[in-house]
Amino acid sequence: KNIAIIMGGFSSEYQISLKSGNVVYQHLPKEKYHAFRVHIFKEKWVYVDDNDIEYPIDKNDFSVTANDTKITFDVVFNAIHGSPGENGYMQAYFALLGIPQTSCGFYQAATTFNKRDLLAILKPYGIKTATSFYVNKGDAIEVATIVDKVGLPCFVKANNAGSSFGVTKVHKAEDMMNAIEVAFKEDDEIIIESFLSGTEVSVGVINYQGTVTVLPITEIVSENDFFDYEAKYLGKSQEITPARISLTQESNVSTVAKLIYKVLKMSGFSRSEFIFIEDTPYLLEVNTIPGLTEASILPQQAAKAGITLPELFENAIEMATL
Ligand code: DAL
Ligand code: MG
Repeated sequence: KNIAIIMGGFSSEYQISLKSGNVVYQHLPKEKYHAFRVHIFKEKWVYVDDNDIEYPIDKNDFSVTANDTKITFDVVFNAIHGSPGENGYMQAYFALLGIPQTSCGFYQAATTFNKRDLLAILKPYGIKTATSFYVNKGDAIEVATIVDKVGLPCFVKANNAGSSFGVTKVHKAEDMMNAIEVAFKEDDEIIIESFLSGTEVSVGVINYQGTVTVLPITEIVSENDFFDYEAKYLGKSQEITPARISLTQESNVSTVAKLIYKVLKMSGFSRSEFIFIEDTPYLLEVNTIPGLTEASILPQQAAKAGITLPELFENAIEMATL
């Protein structure tokens, strides 16, 4: 099978995506698959060979001609964090072309990537969330109204973004406008959420060999004020798997994470973040293209479950083609 591993993307997360994509490239079982690295950027879509020579992709059928040979792909391994890989755009494109890809469908990607819409869709299922306030570019902003609703401290986030780009924890009302400007650099929509004080956990759910499976849960302990970019990628946090939570908490959060996967009819990878208030998990967000390097959370969770990277990646491809 020819596998195109798509990586890069249009958002601030492109470098992390290149890392994830290259890890997938290194670990896909070579005897089973012929893997190709495909960079997706605004300026160019290219297949990049092992000598870093680039060949342009034909967007009409997602094929590439290299050394006079036309290559077509049987499956796409989606390793693009953020737009256009995690918000449904690539999913819709491949659905139209009839090429299976490893992440969830375009609707699931679009709705999970939009934090506001995700939380609204899940509310009727009894899933708890922080109190939130939404601001779109061009809206009149009254800081007092926001603080009245969500309290302080609170989190100002880009509504459609990842890896904590555009996220600020605001402690004082006078810092709110600045935080909103930072978030507007990433997105035209902003979500402002009340601060939830409790243990933070990350829950990986995948379809493993046909069964929706909750991986061992990870507890996030940040050395910074919250699990920001530095904490995530520059070692300023501890990620403890399995999480030091009670059996009741573990059962509650597993039930909710699995419910989300099923209710949204998800497929492929998902990693949801929650904060516990007593025994109740409050949902922060769902990531459908989680980091896939050896050090990333979901691969660590898989390792604890006895699933190696080659097994994890092979499973993603096999489940995409069912
Ligand atoms: N958005 C990053 C890559 C993650 O969820 O792991
Ligand atoms: Mg995220």
